[in-house]
Amino acid sequence: MTTETIPQIVYDKLIAARVVGAFTGAGISAESNIPTFRGDEGLWAKFKPEELANFNAFMKNPKLVWEWYSARKKIIHGAQPNPGHLALAELEEIIDEVIVVTQNIDNLHRRAGSTKVYELHGNIERNYCIKCGENYADEVILADELPPKCGKCSGLVRPDVVWFGEYLPQDEFAASEEAAQRSEVFLSLGTSGIVYPAASIPQVAKYSGAFVIEINPETTPLTEIADVTILGKTGKVLPEIVNTLRSIKRKGKNID
Ligand code: OAD
Repeated sequence: MTTETIPQIVYDKLIAARVVGAFTGAGISAESNIPTFRGDEGLWAKFKPEELANFNAFMKNPKLVWEWYSARKKIIHGAQPNPGHLALAELEEIIDEVIVVTQNIDNLHRRAGSTKVYELHGNIERNYCIKCGENYADEVILADELPPKCGKCSGLVRPDVVWFGEYLPQDEFAASEEAAQRSEVFLSLGTSGIVYPAASIPQVAKYSGAFVIEINPETTPLTEIADVTILGKTGKVLPEIVNTLRSIKRKGKNID
């Protein structure tokens, strides 16, 4: 079902669920003014991923790649969680277990208060040396000229994000699959659902029996497996869902 309003079945399924999974993409951070990747205004319309987001590009021109990442770090550092992130975190007050599986590298789910977050594509706030693996905070590496070098072995330091052609962090991926298998309701939020292997996670949830709810202003390839697609922005739809669930719970308590 594809709809612009929130159907009753969404509330019925969520109120009955003990484990809810959520798979998020750049769209949930769009209302925090962090650009998405695809579409006319998307990052990849202006920059070519093959020139910036892969290891060979980094080795060829680390300064250029670092200039791009340092600009993105600044945008993300200055951004705040929006009502969509906050509502997802508040869902933990209503449902026993909420697990967030995110493709985003912006750390906004944790900053909003979500406690169980798996990051499939890394985290832009972390950095490490490609030679010895030493970790570095942004304050340390951005203080000097780009590209930053390791203080221990002089190796190049890179952002801890997954680039094209690289493996996803195996522990986080396995934990995400396990969460998808256990979820009774699974939310797909603000993602185009076309980047694999991450996009296989909602499918694992679906084929393990979860009721799948998609929230996105546009349909996506994941719409086909969703039980309900709500055409709207996560910053508007998620708070409405959480507020209604709260009042359903309150009324339930009064009746008891
Ligand atoms: P995309 O840019 O591919 O898709 C963003 C999705 O968000 C689109 O489907 C939009 O319709 C939707 N959207 C936009 N505004 C929204 C809003 N306010 N509320 C809800 N949805 C909204 O971003 P991702 O799906 O995250 O990977 O892209 C997946 C991966 O591709 C990224 O993690 C990144 C990129 O290459 C790596 O960097 C490894």
